[in-house]
Formats: sequence, structure tokens, C-alpha cells
Amino acid sequence: MSPTFRIAEVSDVDAVRDLVFLAYRGLESRVGWTSEADLFDDERIDHAGVLAKITDPTGVVLLVATDDDSLVSCCEVVRRSADVAYFGMFAVRPSAQSGGLGRTVLAEAERYAREEFGVANMEMTVIAQRVELINWYVRRGYTRTGERRPFPYEGLVNGRALRDDLYFEVLTKQLPPA
Ligand SMILES: CC(C)(COP(=O)(O)OP(=O)(O)OC[C@H]1O[C@@H](n2cnc3c(N)ncnc32)[C@H](O)[C@@H]1OP(=O)(O)O)[C@@H](O)C(=O)NCCC(=O)NCCS
Repeated sequence: MSPTFRIAEVSDVDAVRDLVFLAYRGLESRVGWTSEADLFDDERIDHAGVLAKITDPTGVVLLVATDDDSLVSCCEVVRRSADVAYFGMFAVRPSAQSGGLGRTVLAEAERYAREEFGVANMEMTVIAQRVELINWYVRRGYTRTGERRPFPYEGLVNGRALRDDLYFEVLTKQLPPA
């Protein structure tokens, strides 16, 4: 059955923060096939960080929930310019991973960017050391641009990085016409 999407509201902030932590950090994230548990010992994002994304007038946080409204996936799509949207804060609950939901959510984010923002390109930044994840995006049509951006160590939430050599790689995709 195809998932139902909705746009996050302020009342979703804590549930989104918890889902992101579950997917990216800590023991439970290791149940999934890709995680940042070996890279960071922190909280990934706090209440204020999620609130800022949900209330950002230039973007949306898209959600997939179960029938009892427990979140299984989230992502943000932000209009960065007349022609480029940014994709981020992408998570699928570890116990729901590897079944194709991530692929469906990414496709919905691309459709949203194309149809609602009218942009022709999606951009994202992925930690360069996460090779398995970069390969997953390449299989979804993303191009490795070779552009590097510094990792914002100063922005970590209540914790620390476990490596000092992290940086982002910029991936882009030209979106199919709406
Ligand atoms: C990235 C993420 C959102 C993908 O969600 P998902 O529901 O697992 O995605 P899908 O089920 O569509 O795809 C699973 C893929 O994992 C691959 N996979 C499964 N086990 C794997 C492994 N051990 N190593 C590498 N790839 C693996 C599958 O082959 C499949 O890829 P394919 O469709 O190209 O064959 C999810 O893993 C997640 O939340 N990760 C933690 C947070 C994160 O890293 N977010 C992205 C930050 S940029």
C-alpha cells in the first residue's frame, strides 16, 4: 500500500525529533542499514532545530505516519532559489527500513519540489564518509558533484563528533518535468 504523506505542523516537533534520533544515532539506529552511530555521540537535532524547519516559510517537512499516527518517515524540502530545492533531515524508522519506503519518500520530495516549488533541481549534502548512503542516492539518479562543504562541528547538539575529518559532499539531481 502506498504511504500517505502530510506536512508537519508545530504539534509534530517532538515526534520528528525522536524519529530523527532513532534513525541516525544510538543503538537502535544500528538496526537499520545505514546510521551515524559510529560518527557522533550527540542528539542530532533538538526541539528548536526541528521547530525552525517546520515553521520555515520557504520549506516543508513531509511526514509518513501509521494509522495510529506514529511517525515512520520524515524529510525536509526547502526552496533555495528559483531553480533549486534542498533535501534533508531524511529518516525512516529503523524497523521499517529496507522495504522501499525511503525510495518512495525521496520520490515524493522530488515531486513536491517540482510541482509546488517549480524548481528543476534537487540538491543535498551527505557526509562524504557515508559511502553506502551516497551509493544509494546515486542509484536514485543523483550525481556526485565533487563539491565539498565543511561539516558544522560547532552546531552539534549536546554531544560530540567521534571523528575530526568529516565533511559534506554535494549531490544534485535534475528533476523530471512535472
Ligand atoms: C536512508 C534511509 C532514509 C533509507 O530508507 P529505507 O526505507 O531503508 O530505503 P529503501 O528501503 O528505499 O532502500 C533500502 C536500500 O538499502 C539497501 N541496503 C540494504 N542493506 C544494505 C547494506 N547492508 N548496505 C548497503 N545497502 C543496503 C537496499 O539494497 C536498498 O537499496 P536499493 O533500493 O537501491 O536496492 C534510512 O536508511 C535511514 O533513515 N537512515 C538513517 C538516517 C540517514 O542516514 N538519513 C539520510 C541522511 S542524508
